[in-house]
Amino acid sequence: MIRALASLFFYATFYSRFSASGLERRRRQWQPYTEDLTGQTWLITGASGGLGRAIALAANARGATVLAAARSADKLDVLRREATAPARLVPLAFDLSLVRAVRALAAEVAARPAPVTVLVNNVGVLLNDFTRTGEGLEASFATNLLGHLVLTEALRDANALDPAGAVVNMSSGGMYGAKLDLAALTRADAAGWDGMAAYAQHKRAQVELARAWNTAWKGAPKAYAMHPGWADTEGVRTSLPWFRAALKARLRTTEQGADTALWLGTTRPPPDPEGGIWLDRVRDAEHEFGFTRGGADAASLRDLLRKTAARIG
Ligand SMILES: NC(=O)c1ccc[n+]([C@@H]2O[C@H](COP(=O)([O-])OP(=O)(O)OC[C@H]3O[C@@H](n4cnc5c(N)ncnc54)[C@H](OP(=O)(O)O)[C@@H]3O)[C@@H](O)[C@H]2O)c1
Repeated sequence: MIRALASLFFYATFYSRFSASGLERRRRQWQPYTEDLTGQTWLITGASGGLGRAIALAANARGATVLAAARSADKLDVLRREATAPARLVPLAFDLSLVRAVRALAAEVAARPAPVTVLVNNVGVLLNDFTRTGEGLEASFATNLLGHLVLTEALRDANALDPAGAVVNMSSGGMYGAKLDLAALTRADAAGWDGMAAYAQHKRAQVELARAWNTAWKGAPKAYAMHPGWADTEGVRTSLPWFRAALKARLRTTEQGADTALWLGTTRPPPDPEGGIWLDRVRDAEHEFGFTRGGADAASLRDLLRKTAARIG
């Protein structure tokens, strides 16, 4: 009962910003941007569905070569056929939850002639049940956080990220309900595990990871954390059916949810990357409630993730 009331309070707090209403209000201030992305390379995780698909199709339509990564080769094949320029859409089937598969993907991307201009760390799963990957890690932690850390850092170490480009972490408003807690983040036992709480930790951690990368890389490339708002996707349909049923009429389209990622990756001059979480081309505060402040710091988080990945040989 308390949990249901807390959820109700949470969603009521953010409704006017995260639903289609928030987008409709903020886009009145937008300036058109028409950057031609010819010559750029975009790597998008989770490109075969939901927001990733919308980002991939839009970047491809504007001239970019899109490296589209997701598990299902069949879905990626459908995506390629839907693209404006299929010859510039490269399907990369891989499983982000497996560190070894992520390293292999990074090596494949690094071997390409052009570096990645914009990397969108987009995959995110909200799992209801505790599951372990074949490498022994809790699956949503491995997918949402560790896989993206390994991919991003392997690409940067291989000089495969354009220093003038951008890394965009697709976080979520779910992070407003979590204080970063490294023990909770790496909890590996099923007893009492809560998929929603785990997801909120991962999404908070993505904001801190952007900060850690900006500190370590000094803006080459720039890292951003963003929130897409509430968009009608397969992920929402599967993980939050009650939420979708309640808000269906006011959810955003995938194209609307994708807008901020495209804008962060293309707008010139690029926005200052320091801090905040971007929504509808505006930098929002990282905290809404006092109880989420004072969590683990960005450098400790990055260190923990690097050590966790290093244990998987
Ligand atoms: N939709 C929203 O309202 C909303 C709100 C806040 C934040 N977000 C965030 O936005 C991001 C995208 O959400 P979405 O709703 O578009 O998700 P979605 O509809 O569930 O799409 C997920 C995509 O990720 C791929 N994927 C899933 N697991 C994977 C894995 N292990 N390895 C590689 N690819 C994998 C899926 O393709 P395959 O199955 O073929 O792998 C699919 O292309 C997430 O980070 C989510 O947290 C979404």
